[in-house]
This record gives sequence, structure tokens and C-alpha cells, in this order.
Amino acid sequence: MDAPLADRIGRPMRDLRISVMDRCNFRCPYCMPEATYHEGFRFLAPRERLDFDEIARVARVAAGLGVTKLRLTGGEPLLRPGLPDLVARLVRVPGIEDVALTTNGVLLARSAAALRAAGLHRVTVSLDSPDAAVFARMSGGRAELPTVLDGIGAARAAGFPGGLKINSVIQRGVNDSGILDLAARFRGTDIVLRFIEYMDVGTRNGWERADVVPSREILGRIDARWPLMPLSPNYRGEVARRYRYVDGEGEVGFVSSVSAPFCGDCSRARLSSDGKLYTCLFAAEGTDLRAILREDDTVQGDMKLRATLSGIWRGRADRYSEERAIPRGCSAVKGKARAAEKIEMHYIGG
Ligand code: GTP
Ligand code: 5AD
Ligand code: SF4
Ligand code: SF4
Repeated sequence: MDAPLADRIGRPMRDLRISVMDRCNFRCPYCMPEATYHEGFRFLAPRERLDFDEIARVARVAAGLGVTKLRLTGGEPLLRPGLPDLVARLVRVPGIEDVALTTNGVLLARSAAALRAAGLHRVTVSLDSPDAAVFARMSGGRAELPTVLDGIGAARAAGFPGGLKINSVIQRGVNDSGILDLAARFRGTDIVLRFIEYMDVGTRNGWERADVVPSREILGRIDARWPLMPLSPNYRGEVARRYRYVDGEGEVGFVSSVSAPFCGDCSRARLSSDGKLYTCLFAAEGTDLRAILREDDTVQGDMKLRATLSGIWRGRADRYSEERAIPRGCSAVKGKARAAEKIEMHYIGG
């Protein structure tokens, strides 16, 4: 029996985040600014993307190495035709306990029931503002707010066993004035709202630290209106810090990758839609698994895939967000050097 798989600082591989589609039907300026992602932008061709057999095969091999959680992401995953069929296959992979989906919600109303029937456990919808004008600006004018709210309603009605979450990326001067409105909208429901610090992912959003609203500030504003108390994490290395309203009106979370990095417990691997494996959201390079998948679809191929995955994981030392947090002038700052080459969020799914 092999020793349990761990990276160079002892972290196991537990989560695999699978991007099934590099395209998106939004143009959020912080992720896919219109100026870059115009009509002439070259997205992957369908043949370049992993097909469902290939994705399920990677999931099986990853589960054999300790992965228990899968999250389907994009771009926008619901743009991938037949997604419920993929879900139905992934929930049956031995060892997989949790399959979740992150979506912008626009196509959710029409697919929530099919996803639920396929066995999807959880859904997270990105919603940055409950104000129609701010929402339009933050999604690049590609969708109407009521469509997303209908999607959220449909997901709720479908009754996903692991529940429903909302992710809100907060940018100073853009949507921070709507923090209490967001909280008010989801208080008193079983939907968990998470506030996300705006991150320096990719190279195209012109990120500046001044645009980040630290979680402690957001928490302070909410707590002053509706007192909050901390909750313990649902699982080791949970990305969001959890709080509940003291008056019993529900739960909120804070994802503080900039002000309080959580690399120490990071057990996440990421698979791009063209089959590259990345060991950090801020990585510059991935490892091509597609070549292995397409060269040999026998058990030998699976063994090669397993050896490649475990080799990559054993060599992993990523801790970008912690390195970014090291004060300027410290010689250990490596994140800075990699900043020019980071992969884009729509390609790796966040
Ligand atoms: P749960 O399984 O529900 O806890 O989901 P999650 O919070 O791990 O995933 P989700 O896709 O909802 O991500 C929430 C936010 O955290 C997004 O903005 C992600 O980009 C960010 N995020 C998720 N994983 C990581 C990570 O490993 N590193 C960093 N820096 N950010 C992450
Ligand atoms: N910073 C923080 N979160 C981001 N997301 C996309 N871009 C960024 C960014 N620059 C979020 C999306 C989605 C999740 C997967 O990542 O809004 O909810
Ligand atoms: Fe916006 Fe998500 Fe699409 Fe990026 S992938 S443009 S964050 S909806
Ligand atoms: Fe994991 Fe990289 Fe995010 Fe740190 S920055 S938590 S290592 S994905």
C-alpha cells in the first residue's frame, strides 16, 4: 500500500475543481472584461475540451488518490451541453461524496430540476448585487437580474440536499454600498451568502489592492446592523469563515483570500476544460493530462494518469496568497515574479 498522498508541505488532495467550459455568457469586468473578450476572442474549440468520458476518468483516478469533493465550474458550466449527464456519472464515482456546481445562474431556471435529478448535491450562484443597475454593470450588461433571481428560486425549489449558496465579490466603489441590501435579501432564508474579497486572479482585470474591501470591514458593517457570531468550519480548510445571525435569521460567510490567506490547508487541484491540471488558482502553468487521456484509454493509461497526478501533487509547494501577503521588500516574495503569467479565472473556474 502506498503512503497517503501529500504535497511538499503535507497537504492532501481532497478537492478537484473541474472547469467544463471556458466560455461565459457574462462579461464581468473583474473576470472577462469586454475589451479583451470581444467577438474575435479565440475560445477553445469543442474538440479541445475534455469530453465527459475523459472528465469522468480523471475524476475516478483523482478519487483513487483521495479526492472526495468535486466542483463543476467554467466560465459558465451551464453553457456545456448535457451537463446533467456528466453530473450523473460523477456522483457515481466511488469515493466521491460531494458534487457541487458554481454558476452565474442565468441558465439555472431551466436546468435546476435536471441537475437535481442527476444527483447534484449543491449549487452556488454568483450574485454581486441585488440592484438591477449595479448588477448589469458587474455582469457586463449581458443579463437581467430577475433571470438570475428566477434561477436561484428554481434551485431552491429543486431542493439540493447540500443547499444553496450565493457568492458576492465585493469591489470598493462598485458594489460595496450594497452590502447590507445583499445581506437583507438572504437573511431569514436557508441560503448562505458569502462575501468574497476581490482577488488578483488572472492578468486582465487591472486589480489594485485599494479595490479590495477586507472581510473584517464587511463583517463590521453587517454586525453593526444585525449582530453576528462565529461558527466552526464545516470541514478542515473551509475557504469561507462562517458566522450566524445572533437572532437566528441564518448564516453568512467571508472568503478572505487577500486579508487572511488560507493556503495552509489548501487541498484543491484544478482541471481546465482542455485538460490541464493546476495546483493553484494563481499558477502560471499546468500539466497536460489530455495527451495522456487521448493516447491510451486502457488500464495502462489510467495507471499513467495516476502516476502523473500523484507526481504533480507530491511536488506541489504552492501558497500564492500567503506569499502575496508577505510585506514588500522581503526576499521570499515569489508571487510577484509570477504575477505576469497567471492563468485567467474564466479558464480555470475560480
Ligand atoms: P464550498 O465547498 O462551498 O466551501 O465552496 P468554496 O468556497 O470552496 O468554492 P467557491 O467556488 O464557492 O469559491 C468561493 C470563492 O473562493 C471564489 O471567489 C473562489 O475563487 C475562491 N476560492 C476557492 N478556492 C480557492 C483557493 O483555493 N484559493 C483562493 N485564493 N481562492 C479560492
Ligand atoms: N476575485 C474574487 N472572486 C472572483 N470570482 C471571479 N473573479 C473573481 C475575483 N477576481 C468569483 C466568481 C465566482 C467564483 C467562482 O469566483 O464570482 O463566484
Ligand atoms: Fe463573471 Fe463567472 Fe463569467 Fe467570470 S466566469 S465572467 S466571474 S460569470
Ligand atoms: Fe490554494 Fe493557491 Fe488559493 Fe493558496 S492561493 S489557497 S495554494 S489555490
